[in-house]
Amino acid sequence: MSSRNKQWLLASRPTGPVEESNFRLVEQEVPALRDGELLVRVHYLSLDPYMRGRMDDAKSYAASQPLGEVMIGGTVGEVVDSRNPNWPKGELVVGMGGWQEFHVTDGKGLIKAQRGLPESVYLGAVGMPGITAWYGLFQIGKPKAGETVVVSAASGAVGSVVGQLAKLRGCRAVGIAGGPAKCAHVVNDLGFDACVDYKSEDFRQRFKEAVPDGIDVLFENVGGTVFDTSLARMNAFGRVALCGLIAGYGGQDVSLKNARSMLVNRLLVQGFIVVEHLEHWPEAMKELGAAVATGKIKYRETIAQGIEAAPRAFIGLLRGENLGKQLVKMGGD
Ligand SMILES: NC(=O)c1ccc[n+]([C@@H]2O[C@H](COP(=O)([O-])OP(=O)(O)OC[C@H]3O[C@@H](n4cnc5c(N)ncnc54)[C@H](OP(=O)(O)O)[C@@H]3O)[C@@H](O)[C@H]2O)c1
Repeated sequence: MSSRNKQWLLASRPTGPVEESNFRLVEQEVPALRDGELLVRVHYLSLDPYMRGRMDDAKSYAASQPLGEVMIGGTVGEVVDSRNPNWPKGELVVGMGGWQEFHVTDGKGLIKAQRGLPESVYLGAVGMPGITAWYGLFQIGKPKAGETVVVSAASGAVGSVVGQLAKLRGCRAVGIAGGPAKCAHVVNDLGFDACVDYKSEDFRQRFKEAVPDGIDVLFENVGGTVFDTSLARMNAFGRVALCGLIAGYGGQDVSLKNARSMLVNRLLVQGFIVVEHLEHWPEAMKELGAAVATGKIKYRETIAQGIEAAPRAFIGLLRGENLGKQLVKMGGD
């Protein structure tokens, strides 16, 4: 086993779009374990939009990422050494190992991954993004059969699960995504009823045609124009699960023109942060795991090879270059 550990540190805070120079690659010895600790060899690192917010030094719901420290990130990997009887060698574990090849932990906050499903799904459809979809849709959106559910960033890790869960509950699922290829995937592979390309010139008109009965549940991942276009088509007493505003993560304006719809349609608009609802995670993981195992929920992954590729893949995620869950596979092919 290699005793060297490659790590990406946050070197500087972005002043505009994220650049590879905002990160620094270092290599360290894997430290010796103390009593109660275990060593995990990371197999997959998850790259997620929230990391962009952590790179800034602005007030938010979570503390910003300190400069000079290993970038925060969800991981799945195998326990390769242990001085903690609760986490023996060979166990497959999901945790917050960060952008590095190995991590040492006392086991707090780790989740055991069941063997049987591909381990990477614990960072996607059966992990944090899938649980985000499950929580926002069911605990806030509360869709009823026959209702119309709209989700933006529909081909992504969260959005793809939202639409498929909505279909399983008997709803009409409509996605919004960037480009014809992503929209075709959302309809043809994931089974949404429709998907509209927000980059197309006639986006507003095509979106109106895709939701002929209006919108009952909006799962918002993007903000800005995309959010505004959906707000204008909400039905009375509609519910908006406000999950993300990725259109503004680089500091862009995400102001709303159609805020009036919230009053006129007596909307429920609820922002949420999935890690504040850990009590729902076991139930959600059970339902999502069963749905993935039986093929009722399909998922796509974009996998960058090797720890060195992490910054470039993260920048790609923020530019919409990923299809489905963006991961980094450690050790290359
Ligand atoms: N509240 C929570 O607890 C929670 C938890 C997890 C995720 N989230 C949020 O959920 C959203 C989706 O996350 P994810 O992990 O599933 O990411 P993702 O959808 O897999 O990847 C991000 C996607 O966002 C879209 N995007 C990027 N910039 C955009 C822009 N300027 N305008 C419109 N779309 C843009 C791109 O798709 P297109 O090519 O289609 O534009 C890109 O592929 C994010 O806003 C994230 O912050 C929130």
